[in-house]
Amino acid sequence: MRKRLVAGNWKMYKTPTEARMWFRDLVAKLPQTQAEPALLVPFTHLPYAAEILEGHGVYWGAQDVSAHNEGAYTGEVSAKMLADLACKYTIVGHSERRSYHAESDALVAQKARRLLEHGIVPILCVGEPLEVREAGHHVEYTLRQLEGSLEGVHPPSASSLVIAYEPVWAIGTGKTATPEDAEAMHRAIRGWLAGRYSSDFADQLRILYGGSVKPDNATALFSQPNIDGGLVGGASLKLEDYIKLLLA
Ligand code: 13P
Repeated sequence: MRKRLVAGNWKMYKTPTEARMWFRDLVAKLPQTQAEPALLVPFTHLPYAAEILEGHGVYWGAQDVSAHNEGAYTGEVSAKMLADLACKYTIVGHSERRSYHAESDALVAQKARRLLEHGIVPILCVGEPLEVREAGHHVEYTLRQLEGSLEGVHPPSASSLVIAYEPVWAIGTGKTATPEDAEAMHRAIRGWLAGRYSSDFADQLRILYGGSVKPDNATALFSQPNIDGGLVGGASLKLEDYIKLLLA
């Protein structure tokens, strides 16, 4: 019922020229898959994504967006600009933005609302740091973050929303949450969404797992009932690995 989404977060890797070649290669080698492929790439790569991936069942988007619609905001990129490049998805609230750019839940919620206003699906990231996990407070921490990051976000526009659970201690570390631990958090998130919105809303919404997803652990993670795919960093940069994840 929920189509599996395998979203690659390229972070700040590859030049536009390298991305262009990679996109062409992907289109040439794209396997038959039940999963939906999407690539969240640096802003500079988006025109190439729009040009090359269009019509191939591969979707693209950015890794961040301005909280403002338009104006004198040097260095910012608006949701309207992303919509013009046919972005289907865009990440908000990634832990690297929350920690290196001090993004608050309220700011993340504002960004999610801007995207929804322009018909772009936010991939909203939440997840606890190591000390919170060790203290056993990961569920309440993550649900509180979710609540703050969804302020003012309502159906029907919010129905397309995607949540990504990314425990901070698993990002880029090679440490993955066990499929059981990840599933427990995903179940808690879906339960919370059912209470906040409705069970129909919660049932159709996709919750991705992120944090050291690799071809050798993807099948075990993705086969959990409440894990609807992955938000993948490192392993999405290598074409062979990304294709394996689409087939996991
Ligand atoms: P890694 O897959 O490299 O751990 O990164 C996860 C991530 O941050 C995806 O957004």
